[in-house]
Amino acid sequence: MRIFCILAGIHPTLPNDEILGILKSSDISYSVIEKVDNCLILDLEDNGYREIINRAAFCKGVYTLLFKCNLDFNSIKTAINDMEMTFQEPRVYSFSVRIEKIKKMHKNLSHSLSSVQLESYIGALILTKFKNNLKVDLVSPELKFKGIIVNGSLIFGIELHKSNSKEFYERSGPNRPYFHPCGMDAKFARLMVNLAEIKSGAVIYDPHCGIGSILIEAGILNYHVIGSDISWKMIHASKINLNYYKISNFMIFRADSQILPIKKIDNIITDPPYGRSSPLKSSSIFKLYKNFLSQCKDIIYNNNKIVFATPNIYGNYIEEILKKMDFIIVRKYDYYIHRSLIRNLWIIRVK
Ligand SMILES: C[S@@+](CC[C@H](N)C(=O)[O-])C[C@H]1O[C@@H](n2cnc3c(N)ncnc32)[C@H](O)[C@@H]1O
Repeated sequence: MRIFCILAGIHPTLPNDEILGILKSSDISYSVIEKVDNCLILDLEDNGYREIINRAAFCKGVYTLLFKCNLDFNSIKTAINDMEMTFQEPRVYSFSVRIEKIKKMHKNLSHSLSSVQLESYIGALILTKFKNNLKVDLVSPELKFKGIIVNGSLIFGIELHKSNSKEFYERSGPNRPYFHPCGMDAKFARLMVNLAEIKSGAVIYDPHCGIGSILIEAGILNYHVIGSDISWKMIHASKINLNYYKISNFMIFRADSQILPIKKIDNIITDPPYGRSSPLKSSSIFKLYKNFLSQCKDIIYNNNKIVFATPNIYGNYIEEILKKMDFIIVRKYDYYIHRSLIRNLWIIRVK
């Protein structure tokens, strides 16, 4: 089936890569048809979209793709005339049409034309074509047609799912039973888990677990989770938080990430200290990164990924030690948190 996803505009590539990470970790076969601005068009096996809905942090909505056409009245009319839909007769379904502009309107359309005008134009065409099966209902329609305007095109489909950030909000910041300023945003933690492309049933280890943000998101996705931290206070905090969010498959213990008491592990996803509000219990942050990465190299299974975040001011240094240690840098992102903090997000693996 063909779908399109509207991506959050937080970063040019991260929301896209998050979705591909989800599909890979769930072994869903797919092909990318196109990525236009914040819209990703995919061809994937039936029901594959459900994993995107269940897991993605930065996908705003998922839609079946009906057509993509040029943004002019003739093309839209032709596309709607060619649109094929089957209905169970004699039922009449209610519908609405919503159009969202992701980029400025195309020059072929009058500048004064608003999304509302386009909605009623398309709505009228649909109603004429399917007059025996559809009726308009803008309040609680059964079929929600959605069009997005990007780069002079109209991408048009039917809503399968619209995201609601409430779920993540309830696990972020002071909404957690144990709050600490170094705690990571739930959406960012989920993103890190999704980027790691981990198969279901695997074990995820966070050796700087803090108050447990990464472990919670991984636990909700039914991975087995192991956490450690040098601080007893953080260990206590993460246990409280994991229990509160009903994560059952977890183990948490105290360890210095420079001498990890683990022989082998499937995956490591972590947010090491960066010498600001998070307590740093090492003589130097660079020594900690170096020792920690060398531990990772010994314990991670070949080809599995390590995902970690660092402040971008240490980017060159980290890159240098990764190269010296013979890690492969699969991808590196810059992610803007606020004016004084840009994080690098690293996805690496052992050669
Ligand atoms: C940036 S915070 C991690 C926050 C975590 N991602 C969360 O959302 O709660 C870094 C954590 O590393 C821990 N830490 C500092 N030095 C450490 C070390 N040498 N070994 C293990 N943990 C350490 C700190 O106690 C802190 O909890």
